[in-house]
Amino acid sequence: MLSLFHLLTLITLPLISSATESAWNGHVLPGSTNPSSFTPYYIPPGAKSYDSASPLVHFSGKWTDSYASRYVGHTLRSTTSKGSSIIFTFTGTGIEWFGNVDSRHGIADVYIDGKLVDHVDSYSPTAHYQQRIFWEFSLPRAKHTIKIIHSGKRSPESKGNIIDIDAFVVTLGTSPHQSVPLNQSAPVQNAATDFNAAAAAPAIALSGSHWTLSQQGTTGVHAMQLAIISSSHALIMDKVEHNPLTIDGHPAWGALYNLNTHDVTPLHVKSNSFCAGGTFLSNGTLINVGGNPVVEDRTSSADFGDVDGMQSVRILEPCDSGDAGGCDIYENQARIRLASPRWYNTVLRIADGSAMILGGSRKGGWMNNATTNNPTLEYFPPKNIHGRNGLPIESPFLVDTLSSNLFPIAFSLPDGRIFIAANNDAMIYDWRANSEQRLPALPNGVRVTYPMSGTALLLPLDPATGYIPEVLICGGSTLDDKTPSWEISSQAPASPQCARMLLSQDAIGAGWHVEQMPNPRIMPDAVLLPTGDVVIVNGGASGIAGYGNVKNQIGASNAANPVLTSVLYRPNAPAGSRFDGASMPSSPIPRLYHSVATLTPNGDVMIAGSNPNLDRSEVEYGTEYRVEWLRPPYMDAERPALDNVPELLGFGQTIEVGVHLPASVQPSDVKVSLMDLGYVTHAVHANSRLVYLQVSVSDDKQKLTITGPPSGDVYPPGPGWLYVVAGGVPSVGRKIIVGDGHGPPVDQGAIDNLLKNTDPDQDKKDKQDKQDDGSE
Ligand SMILES: *[C@@H]1O[C@H](CO)[C@@H](O)[C@H](O)[C@H]1NC(C)=O
Ligand SMILES: *[C@@H]1O[C@H](CO)[C@@H](O)[C@H](O)[C@H]1NC(C)=O
Ligand SMILES: *[C@@H]1O[C@H](CO)[C@@H](O)[C@H](O)[C@H]1NC(C)=O
Repeated sequence: MLSLFHLLTLITLPLISSATESAWNGHVLPGSTNPSSFTPYYIPPGAKSYDSASPLVHFSGKWTDSYASRYVGHTLRSTTSKGSSIIFTFTGTGIEWFGNVDSRHGIADVYIDGKLVDHVDSYSPTAHYQQRIFWEFSLPRAKHTIKIIHSGKRSPESKGNIIDIDAFVVTLGTSPHQSVPLNQSAPVQNAATDFNAAAAAPAIALSGSHWTLSQQGTTGVHAMQLAIISSSHALIMDKVEHNPLTIDGHPAWGALYNLNTHDVTPLHVKSNSFCAGGTFLSNGTLINVGGNPVVEDRTSSADFGDVDGMQSVRILEPCDSGDAGGCDIYENQARIRLASPRWYNTVLRIADGSAMILGGSRKGGWMNNATTNNPTLEYFPPKNIHGRNGLPIESPFLVDTLSSNLFPIAFSLPDGRIFIAANNDAMIYDWRANSEQRLPALPNGVRVTYPMSGTALLLPLDPATGYIPEVLICGGSTLDDKTPSWEISSQAPASPQCARMLLSQDAIGAGWHVEQMPNPRIMPDAVLLPTGDVVIVNGGASGIAGYGNVKNQIGASNAANPVLTSVLYRPNAPAGSRFDGASMPSSPIPRLYHSVATLTPNGDVMIAGSNPNLDRSEVEYGTEYRVEWLRPPYMDAERPALDNVPELLGFGQTIEVGVHLPASVQPSDVKVSLMDLGYVTHAVHANSRLVYLQVSVSDDKQKLTITGPPSGDVYPPGPGWLYVVAGGVPSVGRKIIVGDGHGPPVDQGAIDNLLKNTDPDQDKKDKQDKQDDGSE
């Protein structure tokens, strides 16, 4: 992404300047330079607004006009008269109705194309204007009519039954999406051809062999970051932008997604979480770290009410109840913060259950450079280590890997050290000794971290092979990272390369093994399944990550040629026969920059996001809220099941759990996969992990005896999911805390030293200095 530091330059680009103002401030009315507050009313590119005073909106019955600058077009029409109605005919795929809400508002009946679709209550205990009262985003691209009728009804709490109309916003819809395979001799399998037909029909299953892909649910806030937090919920984090889900009268930028009902609940996020990273700690608490400065427009800094997120540590305490009741984000930078500003940092749980926070940039931007680089790491909670007492520790590797080194790829290895890849290089960092062991560079000049984003996994760790770790890194780009953005094209081919290396001393000498995916991909997502297989989804066959600053942008996307077909990779199959794209389903939905995917507790793969835009856009490639579910064939097989799973699994501890095994399964075909589902953003699947546990099956096949991983080196203490895999078919995963469930080590001296020696808003200070010396 580009931060607001780039906005001034962006505005001069022809593709963006079709809007008359910066998109962060998209609801500034034409002809005005005064921003209004961060209300839900917004006209995304690809949409059109119709004011209540438009002659196309036909009112009947008794309506009263009000005039005020806070209304769209300075006018509002309201009624308290039962049966009064409006009719508005539009052509497009979506319609939004905006108006006021407060304690005197009532209930309206909404009809679309003559069919009653909703009873909408505009009552709210607190007053807000320019609210999205009703929306429908999934209409077929055609002419439609919305009719709103005053029902005469109100909720018991309401003191009145006012219904008002401030404006309508129509989503015009994009032309049918064509998948153009970049390499004609290696065509995309099963490429979808009709974007709109599929988009208009949710929950259709596109079946390819036994894998299926279906569309169900919308995320409400764009899914830039995704983590499964419980058996029923996923956390979704975005940036400050005009998402349809609202909270306290303004658009939300964090939400909990119910995996069973597909409902979304907005979260209170104070600071801008644009391009943060995240992890669980050993006690099950999740932290979301770093981000973007305050979103502001050219004239005002207080528009959006958000706080600078670059040093934020946002805390989500364990949230395991079925309705996620009472779960919310806590942040207070006066007490809890990073020592230094970080945008595009990677956050990793390490062997002692704390978080290592790696790299990033001190300012927003695009390609990292020596001025903006933050070539350090720090810990949460802060540690008194290597003489730094809570302050950042220098990383020579993060200097040497400039420029394409943001969102470094990192995995905690079974000896407690950390594998890190950035740009074209890799190393193993020993955090206890503060020493680096450099590894062979990635083959063929492929760069794998932002904005040349590839994806990576630590392949399954197996006691049978002594937990020897092996990493897999796929996709990325061979573009030169010193080339200015305006010389790079969205059509520049991405890399199809996967590089794989065993990290034993001998194997490192033998270097990387190279394989080719069926398609090149920039920004893919690789997801480990409980079976040990990998699916690769999302991404584009050309271009680069980010938006708004290369040649031949599609909308604002720096990448193009979305790869719509998922690919299966079987790490244990013989080389040359590991990839399977032919029997995998295709999606009608392009998923480029800011897309995500994760394994769910059920065993299917949740796919969401894509937003190569400054703010919500409906122009291809627009802001994507639809969720897809990729179902492996095992979802329809007779599945094993676990019961009586305890809450904790200690290191080396042997426990007995109940099991149901299909009758045909032999005990020798039973495995137990302990998985961390990871924290996913920007193609980085931090913490993603599969450790096979030692297991024996009782004679009556009713019980499993399982031994916990030997140490926090093999599985960093914290939450995990247990799947029993019988004859290649996994059960539903059961949540467990590995270790003793205690928090990570807390060093009060290091916390005090950090708070004493750092400011909560160092980025602002940098900006101030910059302004003082008169430079841009
Ligand atoms: C296209 O794909 C074929 C088959 O995978 C491969 O041999 C060829 O090198 C590719 N060409 C380009 C230009 O990538
Ligand atoms: C470094 O990156 C920042 C943010 O993108 C940019 O403003 C600055 O001009 C760059 N500096 C150099 C020397 O390229
Ligand atoms: C877990 O540890 C962190 C860091 O010390 C702390 O902020 C958090 O409140 C703890 N969570 C629980 C549930 O105790």
